[in-house]
Amino acid sequence: VQMTQMPELVALMHSLVGLAACLVGFASYVDTSTVFPTEAEKAIHEVEIYIGILIGAVTFSGSVIAFGKLSGKIGGKPLLLPARHWLNLAGLLGVIWFGAQFLNAHDINSGMLPLAVMTVIALLFGVHMVMAIGGADMPVVVSMLNSYSGWAAAATGFMLSNDLLIVTGALVGSSGAILSYIMCRAMNRNFISVIAGGFGTGGGTTPAAAGAEPAGEVTAISAVETAELLRDAKNVIIVPGYGMAVAQAQHTVYEITKFLREKGVNVRFGIHPVAGRMPGHMNVLLAEAKVPYDIVFEMDELNEDFPDTDVSMVIGANDIVNPAAEDDPTSPIAGMPVLQVWKAKTSIVMKRSMASGYAGVDNPLFYKENNRMLFGDAKKMLDEVLAALKG
Ligand code: TAP
Repeated sequence: VQMTQMPELVALMHSLVGLAACLVGFASYVDTSTVFPTEAEKAIHEVEIYIGILIGAVTFSGSVIAFGKLSGKIGGKPLLLPARHWLNLAGLLGVIWFGAQFLNAHDINSGMLPLAVMTVIALLFGVHMVMAIGGADMPVVVSMLNSYSGWAAAATGFMLSNDLLIVTGALVGSSGAILSYIMCRAMNRNFISVIAGGFGTGGGTTPAAAGAEPAGEVTAISAVETAELLRDAKNVIIVPGYGMAVAQAQHTVYEITKFLREKGVNVRFGIHPVAGRMPGHMNVLLAEAKVPYDIVFEMDELNEDFPDTDVSMVIGANDIVNPAAEDDPTSPIAGMPVLQVWKAKTSIVMKRSMASGYAGVDNPLFYKENNRMLFGDAKKMLDEVLAALKG
């Protein structure tokens, strides 16, 4: 699997946890070898089975759809059925009603039907929930499914009386829920509205319709000119994004950073919470390249420093530095906090073309007067910048 395919793989893995919870649930129900001393204990076990299969089925079908969307097999456009909230509500009421039937059943034969019907409702709910979510909100959904997979594993632990599975499942479930909340905040999305769906665009590489008209000319720059700007700068902020990960340019980025710091330039890194394709993606890459932690900052810690910065260097990032998020209320990413690189004296954007990023929206940053485009593969261009700096 290519590193860039990791989110799809993670989504697929979550689906397996959900499937396992369902299968374990049905297996424990038909397993008559366990004898329960009291009726209450039997009822508790049946509740565990019902809830375990419910969470497992939602996780399974939701994750399969998330895999389809992330791998491009299913379009990123949100599917908005009429009366979709009513459909969900009807599903929920159905699950409660069949739950009562299941618990009142006298034997396995009569309990199997409500259990199977609930499983089908849960599977449809998982499909419906993720189909209604737009491409730009998929990161939150993947982290939410991560959380669900944890709860599904915990439920499996209850069914099998396996304490380790309960504890690890609960850890994954709660940390995934916290992560989803943090990501929603980072993207300025309301958690409930993400789950209710309908947000975002089709994603991909074509600019979205709203505000997508290219807003003017761009100014290209060469690697040698970039090196000159960096050499003359006192303060530099580097903003890495998904493209740095694709190009595996982190080691060269650090070589350049080391060189500039030795010459007395103040170099810092600005990390957006959803830069790249995984939570903490950029931090992991920079740590791998041995970039010292004390020059790596969260977006909020240095966003106000851009006006005092000589050069902001954007390496393979796009959505996270898009001023339309602040200026254009019709933009699909409107309201998402971004790194204000355009406020530096000069911003340099390193990418291969004018293509848009994950959210599929055009970026007015490219056309700003103080912006320069260094076109090419990030690793190749940075190697050239490093050679020019040393030369
Ligand atoms: P993006 O907005 O996706 O932009 C990345 C840019 O990198 C692209 O425009 C691409 O332009 C460029 N690029 C690709 N390969 C390159 C290469 N080899 N060399 C140089 N440039 C290259 O990335 P971002 O700014 O990091 O923003 C992240 C986006 O992903 C957000 O929309 C976020 O919501 C979403 N997302 C995040 C996560 C998490 S949890 N972090 C998970 C899923 C999705 P060219 O094609 O022109 O080179």
